[in-house]
Amino acid sequence: MKIKNICCLGAGYVGGPTMSVIALKCPEIKVTVVDLNESRIAAWNNGDLDKLPVYEPGLAEVVEEARGRNLFFSTEVDSAIEAADMIFIAVNTPTKNYGEGKGMAADLKFVELCARQIARIAKNDKIIVEKSTLPVRTAETLQTILDHTGNGVKFEVLSNPEFLAEGTAINDLLHADRVLIGGKQTESGQKAIQALVDVYAHWLSPKQILTTNVWSSELSKLTANAFLAQRISSINALSALCEATEADVDEVATAIGTDSRIGPKFLKASVGFGGSCFQKDILNLVYLCRYFNLPEVANYWEQIIILNDYQKYRFAKKIISSLFNTVSGKKITFLGWAFKKDTNDTRESAAIYVAEHLIEDGAEIHVYDPKVSEEKIKADMSYLWELKGFTEQKIESKLKQIFVYNSAEDALHQAHAVAVLTEWDEFKTYNWNSIFINMYKPAFIFDGRNILDAEELTAIGFQVKGIGKGY
Ligand code: NAD
Ligand code: UGA
Repeated sequence: MKIKNICCLGAGYVGGPTMSVIALKCPEIKVTVVDLNESRIAAWNNGDLDKLPVYEPGLAEVVEEARGRNLFFSTEVDSAIEAADMIFIAVNTPTKNYGEGKGMAADLKFVELCARQIARIAKNDKIIVEKSTLPVRTAETLQTILDHTGNGVKFEVLSNPEFLAEGTAINDLLHADRVLIGGKQTESGQKAIQALVDVYAHWLSPKQILTTNVWSSELSKLTANAFLAQRISSINALSALCEATEADVDEVATAIGTDSRIGPKFLKASVGFGGSCFQKDILNLVYLCRYFNLPEVANYWEQIIILNDYQKYRFAKKIISSLFNTVSGKKITFLGWAFKKDTNDTRESAAIYVAEHLIEDGAEIHVYDPKVSEEKIKADMSYLWELKGFTEQKIESKLKQIFVYNSAEDALHQAHAVAVLTEWDEFKTYNWNSIFINMYKPAFIFDGRNILDAEELTAIGFQVKGIGKGY
């Protein structure tokens, strides 16, 4: 079966870039990305490519080439579903914040709504592809909803989890280590798998395309994120021990990472991992383990999150204790708010939680991030405080402790301390001599990413504190 028309439900960080690359590489396939969010779709259609809703290096060029040729962004969900032979579901699956499984389970209401909408609209057989990250056995739920339409339409459900990382999405898609496709072992299941293999085969070699049963594919996604996050929590746990013993965490990471069995990647100690997925996917894994009555397994994976929370708290506490046990009324400049460099995404960013601790202690937080707006930063903090049950009035008053700048120079002027929260390359290029002159003394730098040259900064006169460093 040759796919001619693809529709993707969800034009977010995954739907937008993945479909852009599929459209780029498969010019004979019409790809329509739809979303309920009108402003997001308008931004995808914006003539000014700097205004795309997702910032990713290389994305604008891909969109420029494919958009209007065989790549379309639209809010007309029903007609896109009707026309498609293959439908990707790439909607959000956040942690549930209500009812059964609150704070742990994935909220599948958006995915279920997609299935119901497809079931209602479809008039001919379709392949449904789970692109969102889902708990193992979700395909069963989708199939049940789809099979109960009574209109004779046949659906094959595939699992095709996405492994791209933000900030490198285009490169990850173009040069994927692997794509994973799970499907049923039946004849029609295998045909559906082959149809999706043929899409990816436009630019990936057969050995990069793994096929499995549906459940292995679904579970592999949660597992991959849990393993990646586990490495970060492991090295971050050791960073605390390094600080207590004068071992250097980067030296330890290099020493262990050269063992080919361990490998060098994902061993960068930090202020704590953020991003929309690691925490939510691990919480979901923990929930599933408890659901299947495996408490020891659940507790094992949960420790990754506990350690990550500890790391963010530890960083904030270090700032407070270094600044003579209070930051009340002091100006702390945050360099970076995004959860990692080269993205405008701030979901679950460590910066949010560090800011919260410091604001609690009375600090003024002055933020500069090259890609994140004031509106976003304030919305992130408001959302956190709303979840904590703060009144609107209390939130308004706390927001007065946050100041956001378009220039690092302004943000740093007359600060008591600088905290590096995101590893943006530009922070390394600043004139730290003149920054020092304009700061209160002693001038502190807390490098939550270990990206600055501590020796050079110490020579200028800064009091420098890194993660997992003796200084
Ligand atoms: P996102 O929030 O950026 O985008 C999801 C979009 O889906 C939103 O724009 C929303 O309006 C839209 N949507 C919701 N319900 C809809 C419906 N019924 N019809 C049409 N559109 C609808 O989320 P994201 O970061 O793109 O993540 C999507 C999924 O991919 C999640 O399951 C996530 O875990 C997974 N994932 C994300 C990443 C990542 O780097 N962000 C990587 C791999 C996997
Ligand atoms: C992660 C995975 O890397 C992707 O494979 C996966 O598809 C995606 O989650 C997802 O499912 O959403 P992402 O969160 O975009 O991608 O970015 P990462 O590069 O994994 O970084 C996550 C967080 O860990 C960031 O805050 C980053 O700064 C931090 N990190 C990463 C470290 O602190 N140390 C490291 O060594 C690596």
